[in-house]
Amino acid sequence: MSLRSILKTALLMATTASAGRTLFVGSGKGTIKSYEFDETANAQGLMKELASTAESSPAATWQTIFGDLLYSVSETSVPVDGVVTAYQIGPDKKLIKKGSAKGTPSPVSLGVGKGGKLVISASYAGGGVDTFAADGSGGLTHSQKFAYTLDKPGPVPDRQEGAHPHQAIMDPTGEYVIVPDLGADRVRVYCANSSTTINELESIKTPDGFGPRHAIFYPVGNPKATHMFVVGELANEIMTFKISYAHGQLKAENIAAVSTFGTQSVPTGPPAPTAAEIALSPDGKYLYVSNRHDKTQANGTQDSIATFRVYPDAKLTFIQLSACGGISPRHFSITKDGNWVAIANDGSGNISIFRRYPENGTISSLPIVSTANDGASCATWYEPKVEYS
Ligand SMILES: *[C@@H]1O[C@H](CO)[C@@H](O)[C@H](O)[C@H]1NC(C)=O
Ligand SMILES: *[C@@H]1O[C@H](CO)[C@@H](O)[C@H](O)[C@H]1NC(C)=O
Ligand SMILES: *[C@@H]1O[C@H](CO)[C@@H](O)[C@H](O)[C@H]1NC(C)=O
Ligand SMILES: *[C@@H]1O[C@H](CO)[C@@H](O)[C@H](O)[C@H]1NC(C)=O
Repeated sequence: MSLRSILKTALLMATTASAGRTLFVGSGKGTIKSYEFDETANAQGLMKELASTAESSPAATWQTIFGDLLYSVSETSVPVDGVVTAYQIGPDKKLIKKGSAKGTPSPVSLGVGKGGKLVISASYAGGGVDTFAADGSGGLTHSQKFAYTLDKPGPVPDRQEGAHPHQAIMDPTGEYVIVPDLGADRVRVYCANSSTTINELESIKTPDGFGPRHAIFYPVGNPKATHMFVVGELANEIMTFKISYAHGQLKAENIAAVSTFGTQSVPTGPPAPTAAEIALSPDGKYLYVSNRHDKTQANGTQDSIATFRVYPDAKLTFIQLSACGGISPRHFSITKDGNWVAIANDGSGNISIFRRYPENGTISSLPIVSTANDGASCATWYEPKVEYS
């Protein structure tokens, strides 16, 4: 090869090399950090911190990106009002605070309606659900508060002494919102009855002590859901529901349940494992769940991510448990091309990025990079023109 063609090849490689990817990490210690992950860099350059904000203190445990806005929670302790903050994602990936609004204490999750005008928060310790009107450029105004109490505690008294809404998710039609309530053993259902408000419908019961935490609709990218997977933090199980839409209702019929440890035995603890996040791969063919406090990986030093194959009828088959790169994987997200998984380990205080193989759904056993981030609670990829909820 001539020097000229070598130079030409080098130049071509430099210009076609994929640009660094952006990852936002919210922490239970209050910061939201922006990182660049460059898979083509050397070991030192793989992860670079670009910016940090503490505007969502005391705890930025959840974030939802919609367009170029990042909505974050401040998970306050009861009785301090919770706060939802909207940030503009700047060209340098710096977060610029645009607006905020108060709601029920201790928000832990946010859903954003289809048009971006409705923001819904779920408050775990505060036992409530709030809605906010969003103006699309970061302005937020509180609109509704739903407060829940229980007649009697659930079968896991230390976790089910009251209602604990854990996530707010829009269904693919944009007409319904569901809220898994860990304390009440039910998935609350609402319909959007205006562009900025919701109305509560009949909820979906889960077995006593299931502890519904997070859920995801299936299939990916369909205008309507056919199924929904719900992860039970207390039972360490995934329930599969068949969804039907009829007469202004979203109905769900339970058709299956599997352990979040698949065919492996469930560690008994103490502490007992507590399943956390659930996500589908972008192609919808694989389902992932994080297991906290199981220490089944890396010679008993790390927790796990469980991988399942999803068949078109929503049947799940277990593939593997793999390492999460630390302790207590509270949240993880997958890039749109399916190649990388970012995992927020709040127990060990780090984020780990693993390679994922889209052709068979497996996740590598070692991370390509692990970066210290005290209290890392959520790790969300930002891929412009892609909306998350
Ligand atoms: C929507 O539902 C809420 C809660 O039930 C109710 O207060 C509100 O009046 C309804 N709004 C509309 C436009 O129907
Ligand atoms: C697990 O222990 C074995 C044997 O001591 C060692 O070879 C291996 O590197 C360890 N693996 C990890 C991920 O620590
Ligand atoms: C992340 O956590 C793992 C498991 O505890 C640990 O081995 C590793 O050193 C941590 N990495 C960083 C950068 O903190
Ligand atoms: C999955 O695919 C990757 C890349 O082709 C390969 O290295 C790995 O062994 C495969 N894993 C399984 C379980 O088939």
